[in-house]
Amino acid sequence: MTDPEQPLDLDHKYALDRDCTTLSRHVLQQFQSFSAEAQDLSALMNRVALAAKLIARHLSRAGLVEDALGFTGRTNVQGESVKKMDVYANQVFISVFQESGLVCRLASEEMEDPYYIPENCPIGRYTLLYDPIDGSSNVDINLNVGAIFAIRRQGSEDLDYSGKDLLQDGHQQIAAGYVLYGPSTMLVYSIGKGVHAFTLDPSLGEFILASENIHVPDHGPVYSVNEGNFWQCEESIRNYIRYVHRHEGYTARYSGALVGDFHRILFQGGVFLYPGTIKKPEGKLRLLYESAPLAFLIEQAGGRASTGLQNILDVVPDRLHARTPLIIGSKEDVALVESFIQEEQRERQEQEILASKGN
Ligand code: AHG
Ligand code: MN
Ligand code: MN
Repeated sequence: MTDPEQPLDLDHKYALDRDCTTLSRHVLQQFQSFSAEAQDLSALMNRVALAAKLIARHLSRAGLVEDALGFTGRTNVQGESVKKMDVYANQVFISVFQESGLVCRLASEEMEDPYYIPENCPIGRYTLLYDPIDGSSNVDINLNVGAIFAIRRQGSEDLDYSGKDLLQDGHQQIAAGYVLYGPSTMLVYSIGKGVHAFTLDPSLGEFILASENIHVPDHGPVYSVNEGNFWQCEESIRNYIRYVHRHEGYTARYSGALVGDFHRILFQGGVFLYPGTIKKPEGKLRLLYESAPLAFLIEQAGGRASTGLQNILDVVPDRLHARTPLIIGSKEDVALVESFIQEEQRERQEQEILASKGN
């Protein structure tokens, strides 16, 4: 029983079961100010978090309700079969940002053209680029999926609503991150001040800080590639795969969801690769809302992202849904894959020179 004679214990440390840093507080703390930019980014991250909570709830009930799983019967702009979950998640992001006032335009894997919210445009000079469900082949079998997002400032030159100003390199991103819908829901983000991970506490409905300033190890044991494409790949990639087969200390992990594979590598090191194949010479992954946001994160965590010949953040897309080969992860492991690709390129160039001399 409380002793009325004793002064009240004002030590708040017992009020919380641990140091609960919420996502929006964390964004503001990083700016160390309440500037307009800090408030915008905090509000933007809050909206992404709301979308993530709505989608996490839908995913967790997907097997129990009608019309959540399976295909829609349509194909998207990339010719891929669209799942009901893709449509749902795409729509959630639109609805959440429709009322935000902050975002004038959204561009997503599931929409051929950017989606404008004209009523937001006078004040909301930001664009959200996103992959609403990454790894959608995992949805129907209750395995992990994710979402990937990036935020870019929108220039006033986009007066013709064409979205041409989006065709810029990845250094233009001001924030990027992903959501992982796994045994728990996690949100990992960066505003260019390190990479930070949050776990959703469903009882509070809040993302709570789990790991701050994540540093990807310089080397890790995991290589993550679809080896089913082995004979579809260039000889350089086959040589890399042969190399890891023949050397101790490597282990393969491939989940079918880039976000899941990337998350493992971010925390434990290693490399993910989706190179060009005969069928898809540019690879499968899309630059603006898959490769570039994750490249932004990995660089912030001390790792690297490359096409094999160029830094991913330097790549300028020629269209909204452009694809690039992607090699991403620990510095040393990315460099190893690059060394095979660059070696092959050197040999090819030498052969071309010899052939031209012979003519
Ligand atoms: P999405 O579901 O957004 O289309 O992305 C799927 C991507 C990525 O998540 C994953 O790494 C890759 O496709 C798997 O492709 P393969 O089945 O060709 O290996
Ligand atoms: Mn994807
Ligand atoms: Mn997707």
